[in-house]
Amino acid sequence: MQGKKVGVTVTEHLLRQQRLTPQATGAFTLLFNELVVAAKLINRELNKAGLNDIYGFTGDINVYGEQVQKLDDYAHRVLVRRLSQSEQLCAMASEEDADIIEIPSTVPHGPYILLMDPLDGSSNIDVNVSVGTIFSIRRRLHEGGPVTLEEVLRKGTEQVAAGYFIYGSSTMLVYTTGQGVHGFTLHPALGEFFLSHENIRMPKRGKIFSINEGNYNYWDEGVRRYVDYLKTPDVSKGRPYTSRYIGSLVSDFHRNLLKGGIFMYPADRKDPKKPSGKLRLMFEAAPMAMVAEQAGGAATDGVRRILDIEPQTLHDRVPLFVGSQEDVDEAGRFLRGEA
Ligand code: AHG
Ligand code: MN
Ligand code: MN
Ligand code: MN
Repeated sequence: MQGKKVGVTVTEHLLRQQRLTPQATGAFTLLFNELVVAAKLINRELNKAGLNDIYGFTGDINVYGEQVQKLDDYAHRVLVRRLSQSEQLCAMASEEDADIIEIPSTVPHGPYILLMDPLDGSSNIDVNVSVGTIFSIRRRLHEGGPVTLEEVLRKGTEQVAAGYFIYGSSTMLVYTTGQGVHGFTLHPALGEFFLSHENIRMPKRGKIFSINEGNYNYWDEGVRRYVDYLKTPDVSKGRPYTSRYIGSLVSDFHRNLLKGGIFMYPADRKDPKKPSGKLRLMFEAAPMAMVAEQAGGAATDGVRRILDIEPQTLHDRVPLFVGSQEDVDEAGRFLRGEA
């Protein structure tokens, strides 16, 4: 039997997948190519951030009241500049921008809307810990005219693609277009992403839990009881679980995707301005939920499936429980008081 083709690039993989979706026109592949170029530019800056002093703060405060790190800003600008010229978008939105980003009228518009977290885990940049870029791609409902907020504020099941770049010990791209989850590793010398993890499947149950236990006293009682349960020895049930928390969603998620486990950012009473926890529905939870489900995992806000949640505002925050199906289900039973 002819061996598996090695050295499949992301462009080749996209074109092959495109053949499986009859209505695909190549617009998506063009869009994705621009995403890949932007990620390579961000990756290059990250690799030398310490040298040209772009670790620091810009002094700006973003819509969440967060100090904007220079690399947050750089990543945001590179993505906006490159993707708005892709001719495949009719609108963009970014964690780093309060409103929808219009595509210049001088540029031909396309059918797609891109939402992004340009740099995830930014608090880790200056301590050399992995960070990432998260993206979510949707199609506009109808042709022509400016994109309205309600066209963007649609639930996660309407995403046509989602994924992330992780700038870690190696630089990877993980994405799904609804036909499974596929991972590509950047070959540093060639500057090309090659298929390295085809059809990633998340283990049904893991042995890892990821949560910021510093917030323990601010969680709801069900979350505390669930985490206490995971830490209580019961060898027959594979407990205690191991605790792993990097503090960068993309990195914590990626480890659990490959090894199994559950990542949690629950609601907490720490900051009255953030009663639903820290993570953003449109830019973090929804794209990661699509990847998780496509890999056989699950994602909820503790009660509701993330992909079914109707957004109210562009910057909605939601609690996030994402990872192995059985672990997310078990967490839900504790949160509903059934366990
Ligand atoms: P961002 O850097 O895009 O603002 O996201 C940071 C998020 C996420 O990456 C991570 O899971 C979470 O912040 C960690 O928050 P805590 O430091 O509160 O645990
Ligand atoms: Mn983030
Ligand atoms: Mn970010
Ligand atoms: Mn941020």
